[in-house]
Amino acid sequence: MITLLIILEKLLLTNTKVLLPDANVTCIIPDDCILPCSFRPTGTVVIHWYKQQIPVHSYYYNKDQFGLQNKHFSGRTCLFNSHIPHGNASLLLRRVKVQDKGRYKCYTSTRKGNQEIFINLEVKALIQSVIMEMTDEMVTCSSHNIYPVPQVTWATDPPSAQKTLENSTIKSTDHKGLLTVESTLRILGNLSNYTYICSFIAADKTQVWTASRKNREGITQEEGHALTIPCIAPHNLQNFSLTWTFTLSTEPTVILRYDSKTRHTFNLWEGQAELDQDLLLLGDGSLLLHKPDIEEHSGTYTCTISGLQSRHIVQTKVNITVASISEDEQSVQRSWWSTAASAAFFLFTITVALPQCVRQRGM
Ligand SMILES: *[C@@H]1O[C@H](CO)[C@@H](O)[C@H](O)[C@H]1NC(C)=O
Ligand SMILES: *[C@@H]1O[C@H](CO)[C@@H](O)[C@H](O)[C@H]1NC(C)=O
Ligand SMILES: *[C@@H]1O[C@H](CO)[C@@H](O)[C@H](O)[C@H]1NC(C)=O
Ligand SMILES: *[C@@H]1O[C@H](CO)[C@@H](O)[C@H](O)[C@H]1NC(C)=O
Ligand SMILES: *[C@@H]1O[C@H](CO)[C@@H](O)[C@H](O)[C@H]1NC(C)=O
Ligand SMILES: *[C@@H]1O[C@H](CO)[C@@H](O)[C@H](O)[C@H]1NC(C)=O
Ligand SMILES: *[C@@H]1O[C@H](CO)[C@@H](O)[C@H](O)[C@H]1NC(C)=O
Repeated sequence: MITLLIILEKLLLTNTKVLLPDANVTCIIPDDCILPCSFRPTGTVVIHWYKQQIPVHSYYYNKDQFGLQNKHFSGRTCLFNSHIPHGNASLLLRRVKVQDKGRYKCYTSTRKGNQEIFINLEVKALIQSVIMEMTDEMVTCSSHNIYPVPQVTWATDPPSAQKTLENSTIKSTDHKGLLTVESTLRILGNLSNYTYICSFIAADKTQVWTASRKNREGITQEEGHALTIPCIAPHNLQNFSLTWTFTLSTEPTVILRYDSKTRHTFNLWEGQAELDQDLLLLGDGSLLLHKPDIEEHSGTYTCTISGLQSRHIVQTKVNITVASISEDEQSVQRSWWSTAASAAFFLFTITVALPQCVRQRGM
């Protein structure tokens, strides 16, 4: 009778499958990741981890068993061996890959019975950057080594109707399964009329990266006259870094750099160019040129404002021209010269001529 009961109990227990809903775990490529699994510890245990039918990791006779392990997982799995006696059968999966995505089974068997737990592993590779490039006809935004496919949206400032923003998004997969996503938009009319803005929104909405760019109309200014080249952050950024580069046919040169956190400014053109420190705190990084020179300051100015997950670029061509002397200025100058001449004559009179005259009279 007692034996029968024991057998019955054993039978019942062996057939008991704990029916829990699948646990969902999301891991970041290429980080390490834990697939959780616990069981009621009673003496020795057999642990088998499977992905679908593929053996991932096994443990019995009180040690790891690698004989049947699939080579995809080779060297990348381990259990928390010292925690196994306390009922912890969690799997540590190292350097997670796109291909690791899927449904895993944690099978445990003890004297008291068997258990199967299922885990859905989702993987993602974070967006690290969005690069925007612009020609006269096209704006292109791209991001590399991401997973899964993000949502890409376009906008302009001032806004334009969504249907006029004709975009095409292409994606390609590398040998690791990671994606390169590239979206292209046709320029609307005049290039300099709009700021173009693209956003990459991660599939799970946890990340939004934005790149924006405006190629401004050229600025022409006479040499020697102070000039402001505008650059304003598109939205109120708290922490940002600002870089101004200057290009004159050759390599771009960084002329100014500012970091809002440290409030430190590097200025290659000290004395010739500066930022307004008060406006900077409001996100206005416009560059002031005190006395622009034809040779030294004509060229392309690029302002880059980088914040957390955003980058805004403003490009402006600046043409410093010869100062044209207007009629008014010429007459002003003439009268200045005549005043100066009379003053000089007067001075000469009192310092040289007059004393001589006095001396002569004295003699
Ligand atoms: C895991 O996700 C699936 C669908 O995505 C859902 O049905 C299930 O309830 C989730 N499991 C848990 C434990 O939240
Ligand atoms: C198992 O142990 C590891 C390492 O201490 C821990 O991170 C994990 O949360 C544990 N899992 C369970 C299900 O207790
Ligand atoms: C861009 O293309 C996608 C899919 O092709 C579309 O859903 C979207 O509305 C388009 N326009 C904008 C402004 O994102
Ligand atoms: C900009 O647009 C105006 C009219 O909308 C046009 O006359 C002008 O030529 C355009 N400029 C450029 C550079 O395309
Ligand atoms: C573009 O801007 C210029 C002035 O900068 C304006 O004359 C022109 O009408 C604008 N074109 C469009 C299509 O908005
Ligand atoms: C800006 O940086 C400071 C200092 O590192 C930090 O405390 C703050 O949270 C940041 N603000 C934002 C909006 O990221
Ligand atoms: C700069 O402006 C002058 C006068 O308007 C013009 O002759 C010259 O071609 C311009 N240079 C460039 C590089 O645009």
